[in-house]
Amino acid sequence: MTSVFARADYDLIVLGAGAAGLFCAARAGQAGLSVLLIDHARKPAEKVRISGGGRCNFTNLETRPAAYISENPHFAKSALARYTPWDFMDLMARHGLSWHEKTLGQLFCDQKSGAIIQMLLDEAERGGVELHLETSCESLEIQANAFGLQTSKGRVLGRRVVVATGGLSIPKMGATGLAYDLARQFGHRIIEPRAALVPFTFTGADQALFAAISGVSCEVRARASGPEFTEALLFTHRGLSGPAMLQASSYWQPGEALHINLWGQDGARDRLAQLKSRHGGRSLASVLDDIWPRRLVDMLTERGDIPQGGKLAEQSTRGLDAWAEKMANWTVKPAGTEGWRTAEVTVGGVDTRELSSKTMESQRQPGLYFIGECVDVTGWLGGYNFQWAWASAAAAAQAAAEQWSGRD
Ligand code: FDA
Repeated sequence: MTSVFARADYDLIVLGAGAAGLFCAARAGQAGLSVLLIDHARKPAEKVRISGGGRCNFTNLETRPAAYISENPHFAKSALARYTPWDFMDLMARHGLSWHEKTLGQLFCDQKSGAIIQMLLDEAERGGVELHLETSCESLEIQANAFGLQTSKGRVLGRRVVVATGGLSIPKMGATGLAYDLARQFGHRIIEPRAALVPFTFTGADQALFAAISGVSCEVRARASGPEFTEALLFTHRGLSGPAMLQASSYWQPGEALHINLWGQDGARDRLAQLKSRHGGRSLASVLDDIWPRRLVDMLTERGDIPQGGKLAEQSTRGLDAWAEKMANWTVKPAGTEGWRTAEVTVGGVDTRELSSKTMESQRQPGLYFIGECVDVTGWLGGYNFQWAWASAAAAAQAAAEQWSGRD
């Protein structure tokens, strides 16, 4: 087959034109490397396009290593410290793009997400990057001090290869396990990938009860086996969603329960005493819509979580406290999650203990790099994942360029 590529060999081949791959290719190209970027999809960076409800939550001002899940928690520190949210904001400003903070440090683009993709494409063009879409990677092997890449559009050589083909979430959008296959081929360990930032599903009585109030939301403090998140919980036809649940899902293991503090921010629970003194003649269930949506109160009553009948004034302070404590640890057991179909990210991936935290280069195969979501670094909800994509891409691009300039 004749090759469609402009050259027979490149300083750098980047696999995957998503957030990380596009950014890495652009920076390496601008640093002087000849760069080939390939992707099997029809369009680049489709996840950027659909992210943040079409406005791309491109970073988080609170970016810090503790907001990332990894079996090697120190790994992300170096790259995150060297390419910060402010660096990406500078880049956006230079392209005339603006942003706003929605909540919790989350920055969204004022323009549509497509403007960020265009910015990345313009940066890649400025770096002379050769982009080939609808091109799949068939095999990659070492060939005389370089990597021989067989693609659906011909064969090509690369002195270095960056793997940026992402995780397994949303297969309909072209997600594949290519990064894991390549990592294994070169002797890397894979931390078992799991769907994360994903809604929970329930079966039986709870599913029916939650479905009946689908669309109702309230602020909670929720956790699975990890940290607690104070955000909104949303009841759905199949179970529980909303930011609090998506965050908890990243730490959840099958069979575990979720612990939900239905009082949300401190303060709501304190209102109970006021309600008792003001409406002592009424039942507990009848006054709780001062704190929670009425449909939630009805559901909790039907579920047996709120005692029926009896005047508030007749309830002992200790009894009311014990009940309030139960609501502060409302425990439910999901049947599972919605899985890869709707998961925003993948927890797990290429084990970082075999990568350089400074350069993202494989310690098993010199010249091979892994960046972005395929690596075992997963951010919380709220722009952290794109910040990891930018930061890991910048680290690999810089390293590849430095090694290139120091070559014989
Ligand atoms: P990404 O998945 O972006 O790119 C991988 C690329 O590789 C794709 O273009 C794919 O086609 C290509 N590819 C895969 N397999 C291949 C193969 N075999 N051959 C060739 N090419 C291949 N994050 C955030 O910080 N803020 C947000 O607002 C959101 N919102 C959001 C919404 C939704 C619905 C989803 C699904 C995800 C988010 N995210 C997010 C997460 C964010 O999209 C994700 O973390 C980054 O896109 C990861 O960037 P990567 O470049 O690593 O992978």
